[in-house]
Formats: sequence, C-alpha cells, structure tokens
Amino acid sequence: METLTQILAPWYMQIKFLHVISVAMWSFSTAVAYRDYIVPAFKSVEHNPNDETRIARRNDFMERFDSGVVLEHVAFPLIVITGLIMLIAGGWSFEGFTWLTLKLWIVVLVFVPMEVVDYYISHFGGQKLRIRRTGDMARYERYMQIHWLFFKISTPFIIIFIPLTYYLAIVKPF
Ligand code: HEM
Repeated sequence: METLTQILAPWYMQIKFLHVISVAMWSFSTAVAYRDYIVPAFKSVEHNPNDETRIARRNDFMERFDSGVVLEHVAFPLIVITGLIMLIAGGWSFEGFTWLTLKLWIVVLVFVPMEVVDYYISHFGGQKLRIRRTGDMARYERYMQIHWLFFKISTPFIIIFIPLTYYLAIVKPF
C-alpha cells in the first residue's frame, strides 16, 4: 500500500480535480431538466389523467431524461474511483469519527442505494424507450409511475445530502 501511495501522491491534485468535476456533473447535470420539464409534465398529467397531449409530452420528456441522465451515471463511478484513489494517495485514516467517515456513510447509505435504483429504472429494465419499443404500454405506464415515485422519495435526500457532502468535503468541520 505504501508503494501505491508513493506512486499516486504526486498526482493527488489532478485526481482531486477529476473528483470535483465528476461530483459537479453528478450533482447538477439533470437539475433544470428535472425541475422545469419533468416535474411540471408529471403534475399536469396527474391533474389531467386523460389528456393525450399532456401524456405524450410527459412521455417524451421522460424518455429524453432517461437518455440525459447518462451524464450523471458516468460521473458517479468516476467519483467513487477518484475518491478511493485519493484515500490511498492522501493516506487518509479512518481513526475517530471525522468529516470523511460521515461523508462515506452518506455515500454508502444514501447515494449508492439511490443510484442502484436509478440505474435500473433509467437504463435497464425500467428504460421507458426500450419498454415502449416492446409495445407493452401497461408496463410502460407502470414504470412512469415507479420513476415518478422514485423522484418524490429521492428529491428530499438529494436536497439535503448533496450540499451536506460538499460542506463536509470542503469545510472538513470535524
Ligand atoms: C466513495 C465516494 C467518495 C470518496 C471515497 C471521497 C473521498 C474524497 C477525498 C479523500 C477527498 C480529498 C479531500 C482533500 O484533499 O481535501 C475528497 C474531496 C472532495 N469530495 Fe469526495 N469522496 C467521495 C464521494 C464524494 C461525493 C459523492 C461528493 C459530493 C456530493 C464529494 C465531494 C467532494 C468535494 C467537493 C471534494 C473537494 C474538497 C476540497 O476541495 O477540499 N465526494 N473526496
């Protein structure tokens, strides 16, 4: 491990640059699309459940969002890889309960479970465009509702824990 730290240490700031730019892309790349397209479109269908135009617009926005969230999902593994490399390169210890301990608990207990669900409903079994191409519109509507529920549950966690993690990482309060 000592050798790895010696090899990586000279690149610490370059790795940190990659970490912070990945964190920025992960944190904010879908903010406007979510706030100004997805939320209004889903709410307008909730208020007008039989309006075909509003449903078509919601479906179009959600399929585009599934595609656009790729930015976030490329950034997340980069965050974890660069973060782990910095742990080694910087010789960070886990003695005591520090900013780093709490930050990693947030990553493990909040961000990782959230991303596992998000990967599945955006790119794998729950990808709306792929479901529409199978013609199974009952499954399509079911995953629209699952994704909307996911948004409603995950948004408060995102609003609280992302700024908190930035604060812990930059200010290092304890
Ligand atoms: C497995 C996941 C992660 C690990 C192991 C990790 C680890 C680290 C380490 C060791 C540093 C360097 C601290 C320093 O040199 O001052 C750092 C910096 C940073 N991390 Fe992470 N991190 C992870 C995930 C995250 C996440 C999810 C976020 C944001 C939501 C984040 C935001 C930051 C920021 C903003 C910095 C720069 C702090 C500064 O400039 O002083 N990290 N991270």
